[in-house]
Amino acid sequence: MPRIMCVANQKGGVGKTTTAINLSVSLALGGQHTLLIDLDPQCNATTGLGHEATDHHPLLTHLPLEHVLNDVTVEGLDVMPGSRRFDDIHSLAEGEADALVRIQRFFGEDVREYDFVLIDCPPSLGVLTEAALSGSTEVLMPIQCEYFAMEGLTQMIQVIRRVMQQPGNQLEFGGIVLTMYDHSLELTHEVDAEVRDFFGDIVFDTVVPRDVSVSEAPSYGRSVLQYAPRSRGARSYVELCMEVLDRV
Ligand SMILES: Nc1ncnc2c1ncn2[C@@H]1O[C@H](COP(=O)(O)OP(=O)(O)O)[C@@H](O)[C@H]1O
Ligand SMILES: [Mg+2]
Repeated sequence: MPRIMCVANQKGGVGKTTTAINLSVSLALGGQHTLLIDLDPQCNATTGLGHEATDHHPLLTHLPLEHVLNDVTVEGLDVMPGSRRFDDIHSLAEGEADALVRIQRFFGEDVREYDFVLIDCPPSLGVLTEAALSGSTEVLMPIQCEYFAMEGLTQMIQVIRRVMQQPGNQLEFGGIVLTMYDHSLELTHEVDAEVRDFFGDIVFDTVVPRDVSVSEAPSYGRSVLQYAPRSRGARSYVELCMEVLDRV
């Protein structure tokens, strides 16, 4: 079975999509057969890799993998595009049990051929995030180095704990990654110390620096590894990938 990583944090703009894209590409380049699932109606993971959003979210159709796109620019990476349609999101989120069952069935059967599945979640603690968490084997939480970085995390952790207590669940805490790290800022060091103090070993040693290449890459429909392979941002995601592979 693949490692199914849910990239989640209820806050927007903390680097979920950026991490989902660049970690997926790093894993695929490292020879891991990887599926990136876009579960956010904003579809940034889809467009950030140069794909188009779908009319119907593949998780709503009966044969989800038929709608998975091979990323032509990265061998070994498949992308399940997101949908912006309100109806789709509504259907996915409607009837908690239904969405849960569908997603769990999907993860149970259809994704066996992959080494890794990464899910880019919407910035909320709604049913979509909860369904994704319940189908995952680990949760990866990006935290942005800014004021109030830890605010709201208690709720997030409560949801994660609740999902972990569900019967038959395999969810574990996969790790926390500090994003938009700026070594020159005192604030960054304060957040770093606070997060490591609170969460301990689950925080990755690798930090993702604030790097303009990282934010420019999606407008070219590429990962930062392809757009600016020698940038600090690209190197940090390769390092993060190696840490992820080390943590079995
Ligand atoms: N390491 C980074 N350096 C510079 N900009 C970044 C970095 N990571 C993310 N960004 C930018 O910050 C914004 C929010 O990131 P995003 O990944 O979309 O967050 P989320 O998915 O959590 O809402 C985007 O414009 C993105 O390009
Ligand atoms: Mg996002």
